[in-house]
Amino acid sequence: MSDFDEKSITHAVIARLSECDDPRFKQVMTSLVTHLHDFVRDVKLTEQEWITAIQFLTDTGKACTDKRQEFILLSDTLGVSILVITLNHQAEQGSLESTVLGPYYWEGAPELPRGSNLAVDVKGEPAFYSGRVLGVDGQPLAGALLDIWSGDGEGNYDMQMPGDVGMKARGKIHTDEQGRYWFRSIRPTFYPVPTDGPVGRMLRKMGRHPFRPGHIHMIVSAPGHASVTTHLFVAGSEYLDSDAVFGMKESLVAKFNRHEAGKAPTGEHVPTPFYTVEYDFRLRPVSAAAAA
Ligand SMILES: [Fe+2]
Repeated sequence: MSDFDEKSITHAVIARLSECDDPRFKQVMTSLVTHLHDFVRDVKLTEQEWITAIQFLTDTGKACTDKRQEFILLSDTLGVSILVITLNHQAEQGSLESTVLGPYYWEGAPELPRGSNLAVDVKGEPAFYSGRVLGVDGQPLAGALLDIWSGDGEGNYDMQMPGDVGMKARGKIHTDEQGRYWFRSIRPTFYPVPTDGPVGRMLRKMGRHPFRPGHIHMIVSAPGHASVTTHLFVAGSEYLDSDAVFGMKESLVAKFNRHEAGKAPTGEHVPTPFYTVEYDFRLRPVSAAAAA
């Protein structure tokens, strides 16, 4: 028996993993303990700071509901989410880049015909989205799926709206035989991540703003291809250069072309100014994705 000092405690904790029969878990926990102890030694963490950290994580857990995921927000704002994505989804051959899922994905959005308006009764300037889903070889991918979601034109997601408003600005659209998609929604605007919880307190203490540039979310998938969780960012939006969750990528910035009131690409008459945006998504085949 021996007392632990500030160095030997790390070896002692790692030694307790000797019976662990999951090699990957053992590797991850060994590294986690090593870095965590190094961090505590590095900053010479005080007891008050330690209890503050425990309370912060407790508050983060308590802030989570079936419609709010404060831990994802914490991961996003500390750049961990985009780091994990960057390590695991290297874009290549001009394939579509990934970015953060964010806290507002809601499984089970309705499957809608091409051309549908996803944003019925949603505030915001109309925007008509179109383009193709292609392989990296340029071949159109028929039957590809876009699982789409966004906030409204004021930056509010359905999950944040008071009362139970149900799904808004969400939908699934399949491509046609030529790999084409088109749908109507709104032009998203910049918005703050939720600041009324522990992550908001952290951001204020760090001296950071909470804003994300305007973007629409989508998960793009096709048979035989790696699905990609991504966004389209609105060119010219505020905060493109300082996304609070570090998710902005140049290749995902799309130009929203403004039009006066009149006939939209879908043939419908729009009584207000509207936007059109075209963007092609290129997916890697699964074999190439697995080899990356
Ligand atoms: Fe978002």
